[in-house]
Amino acid sequence: MTRHFLKDTDLTPAEQAQVLDLAVELKAAPYSRTPLAGPQTAAVIFDKTSTRTRVSFAAGIAALGGQPLIINPGEAQLGHKESIADTAQVMSRMVSAIVWRTYAQAGLEEMAQNSSVPVINSLSDDYHPCQILADLLTIREHRGDVAGQTMTYYGDGANNMANSYVLGGVNAGMHVRIAAPADYQPAEAIIAEANELAQTTGGSVTVTDDPVAAAQGADVLVTDTWVSMGQDAAGRDDEASPFAKYQVTSELMALGNDPIFLHCLPAYRGKEVAAEVIDGPASAVFDEAENRLHAQKALMTFLLEKR
Ligand code: CP
Ligand code: NVA
Repeated sequence: MTRHFLKDTDLTPAEQAQVLDLAVELKAAPYSRTPLAGPQTAAVIFDKTSTRTRVSFAAGIAALGGQPLIINPGEAQLGHKESIADTAQVMSRMVSAIVWRTYAQAGLEEMAQNSSVPVINSLSDDYHPCQILADLLTIREHRGDVAGQTMTYYGDGANNMANSYVLGGVNAGMHVRIAAPADYQPAEAIIAEANELAQTTGGSVTVTDDPVAAAQGADVLVTDTWVSMGQDAAGRDDEASPFAKYQVTSELMALGNDPIFLHCLPAYRGKEVAAEVIDGPASAVFDEAENRLHAQKALMTFLLEKR
């Protein structure tokens, strides 16, 4: 049966751990697995801009023995002239995987329903699950393990990163705290799904509007842009931004358990994070960026071998 990765919980906790183990293996021996040898082609479609996702998937597909086909915004018939269902049926006769960065999660679901090859969400308005795999790998490297670690996310608690931290983090047995203004907290459905998952993984999720309380004893502090792709910056990014008091500062870092700082990037210094934090010794953001490559190679290997 074809497996897809559209949201964080599409991997069970055991499978997520297996992918992270494989990522460690592939980081140490980058050319040791070649599930795309042939070379087979994997399509990487972008409806939004990207640096890390584009480069890490292109490099990762090549390292797995394959050939990346990058399709930039507006280049395919998809989105203007052709349906998602027809696109999925055509492409899955020619490529071995479809990686798609898009807006609507429903579009990814439709692509997956009509595809005979794995479909991977490389960011939607709702989730960024490949990024969380890279973050979990980075936390493992810097903290020894992921289960039992406390991770506090600051800022827009209703965006794709926040949703994926809640689900992906709890899937990994982490204690996830979301510190966000009342109007920007995760949807009830996300919290309900995480709470149910927490019963089996031992993780937890808590939501607060208190940035200081959320930092106490945390092992990881993480944030994201206040204005995600496709959002209007007005009212989110100015001096009166509702997120201003959620900037990750040295003062907040000092309240944690000698924490590391993570950020999916691109970052806006002086907005969601103080420059001295992201450019300081506790920052692991470039390890995190590199780990996109290793985590996604592991994910693709896992999905391709499941077919
Ligand atoms: N973190 C991330 O997905 O970066 P890009 O938008 O550059 O791909
Ligand atoms: N929340 C951000 C993440 C970018 C990698 C966005 O969607 O723009």
